[in-house]
Amino acid sequence: MTEKLRFGIIGGGVIGPTHAEAITSIADATLVAVADIKSGVAQKVTDKYGGTPYTSIEEMLKDEQLDVVTVCTPSGFHGRHACMAMRSGRHVIVEKPMEITHAAIEEMLHVQQEHKVKLAVISQHRFDPASIQVHQLIEEKAFGKLVLGNAIIPWWRSQAYYDSGAWRGTRQLDGGGVLINQAIHSIDLLQWLMGPVKSIFAYTDTLAHQMETEDAAVAVLRFANGALGTIAATTGAYPGVATRIEILGDKGSAIIENDQLSYLHLASEDKEEIGAYGVNASTQKPESSGDATSSNPAAVSVNSHALQITDMIRAIREDSTPLVDGQSARKAVDIILGIYESASTKREVTL
Ligand SMILES: NC(=O)c1ccc[n+]([C@@H]2O[C@H](COP(=O)([O-])OP(=O)(O)OC[C@H]3O[C@@H](n4cnc5c(N)ncnc54)[C@H](O)[C@@H]3O)[C@@H](O)[C@H]2O)c1
Repeated sequence: MTEKLRFGIIGGGVIGPTHAEAITSIADATLVAVADIKSGVAQKVTDKYGGTPYTSIEEMLKDEQLDVVTVCTPSGFHGRHACMAMRSGRHVIVEKPMEITHAAIEEMLHVQQEHKVKLAVISQHRFDPASIQVHQLIEEKAFGKLVLGNAIIPWWRSQAYYDSGAWRGTRQLDGGGVLINQAIHSIDLLQWLMGPVKSIFAYTDTLAHQMETEDAAVAVLRFANGALGTIAATTGAYPGVATRIEILGDKGSAIIENDQLSYLHLASEDKEEIGAYGVNASTQKPESSGDATSSNPAAVSVNSHALQITDMIRAIREDSTPLVDGQSARKAVDIILGIYESASTKREVTL
């Protein structure tokens, strides 16, 4: 395969154009077609980024020679649309969340194996330099014994955001509220850095919006490695406050704030002897105080998507596995479905 990889996009709403821009920014990729069921939506994307517009996924898959299809439709359609593309022999990149039920995820993994194609799920913050650096340090055991892992996602979405699409905030197509739509990015990072979650206890509530699902959630976690953790997430924190991931161990700690490494202190780099109260670590100031996506869903950096699409191209070219494949991506959804189960049964849930 020496020619550029040929891409098609399903769904041209808010995130579809980000995929189009990312694909057209990659030298080894070309955007061939976009399909959106809503008249004029695909046309708008192809007018700007090139390719042929379709209003039918079936016709796009039948008429176009495509290597990779990216799925940017509402979350509860991901499985159906990803499986259509995989059954037609195409590799698939699906937006987060991978799907909203265990059954749909199982089917996606089954179809992927059956048709011997590659499946990646967008979790673009795994490609942020700060996430990669902290992950590398954890692999090197630089933080010693991991003790606490926390994810705090105090975002803001207006009522108009939830009213802007009939599927937003619904159980049937969004699969839930703040956890499965917004906080999933940080939950995926937390489990990637801290390792598998073993058990969960949680509360969820709807406090600041008229919607079917939760706009506020807290969960306490026990990780398989024995560490404890918390998740606190909302879309009701005006105007959208910094996203924070804390990795705290007995030989070092790191804080990622708005995708940047805002604090890192390792015992291995201390010149003075560590006293009973630790050392007076000077905390680096975060570089920015507002994360664009904490208040604006459309403010997604194209660069991170381009890095993840490039990782999929690498996996196809080398016949290896993309960094966030289906098995890896399902873990964040499993945690979120565990939180929903704990909140509704008022019991601890073991994964
Ligand atoms: N990675 C990120 O940072 C990020 C950001 C935003 C959204 N997302 C995810 O992307 C997905 C889409 O979100 P959005 O905000 O772009 O939604 P959206 O409603 O703006 O766009 C979805 C599009 O899918 C189209 N569609 C629906 N059914 C279809 C069908 N059967 N065939 C063809 N097209 C169909 C709709 O017409 C619409 O244009 C969601 O799963 C969301 O979680 C990810």
